[in-house]
Amino acid sequence: MNKRLFITLALVTALTCTACGKTDNNQSPVTSAIKNDTVTTSYDNIAVTTPQTTHKDDKIPITTTSNIPINTTIKAVIDTTVITTQTEVITAPTTVTSEAITPQSATTVSTSVETTQPETTNPAQLLRPVGSPPSPDDPDYAPAPIQYNIEGITYIQGALIANKSYSLPSNFNPGLDKTCQTQFNKMVNDAYAKEGLQLKFGSGFRSYNDQYNIYNNFVARDGQAAADSYSARAGYSEHQSGLAIDVNTIDHTFDGTPEAAWLENHCHEYGFILRYPQGKENITGYQYESWHIRYLGTDLSYAVHNSGLTLEEYFGIDSYYH
Ligand code: DAL
Ligand code: ZN
Repeated sequence: MNKRLFITLALVTALTCTACGKTDNNQSPVTSAIKNDTVTTSYDNIAVTTPQTTHKDDKIPITTTSNIPINTTIKAVIDTTVITTQTEVITAPTTVTSEAITPQSATTVSTSVETTQPETTNPAQLLRPVGSPPSPDDPDYAPAPIQYNIEGITYIQGALIANKSYSLPSNFNPGLDKTCQTQFNKMVNDAYAKEGLQLKFGSGFRSYNDQYNIYNNFVARDGQAAADSYSARAGYSEHQSGLAIDVNTIDHTFDGTPEAAWLENHCHEYGFILRYPQGKENITGYQYESWHIRYLGTDLSYAVHNSGLTLEEYFGIDSYYH
């Protein structure tokens, strides 16, 4: 044969690089008070000008339950995996890093947490099939803790806790949570479109220093005991978490208004709860505030709202200065 057939196999791999080119455009037209870079907050005659944070990672609003900061690097001490043919043999622990993927509470603080898996002494118990996830049947299995602390901040079921018992570090300065802001704007739009009610942004994120000044002005005006009944000390305010918003007048003239009633009955549909309900002062540690809502995400907000409990009761925690 003079002819020979040469077959050339060409493997063409098209690599497509997609630039995200995202723009930060989820500002609502409704709440002009928080569309701008700064917000001037009037809080019982005390004006606080607060820069609003826009986050680089403009995540899609997520209405599930978690307030673990995004961009959180979790350093976990986990078991090294040595691959054999059919099994993973867990040997000495080592430290690795991985990205947390729960961006609902869109803060940008970079934090770390270290956890240690319980040691297992029986080598036979360290074997599990390749690729199989940890199982509650594994002797070394440990479910994720429901309460944990990341760099001085307590989370329960993924929800950041800030009350008189659980403080925030003075340098925790996340700005108003992006999803909280988006959901608030949606709620404001709906309240007006459906009921003709006007909810307005009154106060959102307040830094440690903002709260320090606010609280001390109240102490100077009313004395510490009175101030403690309605204002948080620096480091103890939910406003420092960036997950709380005060609506409308931020005082008791809001009580009993149609807006207050609607807020109490509907804010959970947007991921919020009324944080300091009437008659629960001894549990929350604060007087009734018809205007203060806390963003939790809709999983938790529905659960807490439907339970009829305060956040403290729901999680079984207290709120007093220790
Ligand atoms: N008024 C609430 C309790 C605060 O100061 O955070
Ligand atoms: Zn408030």
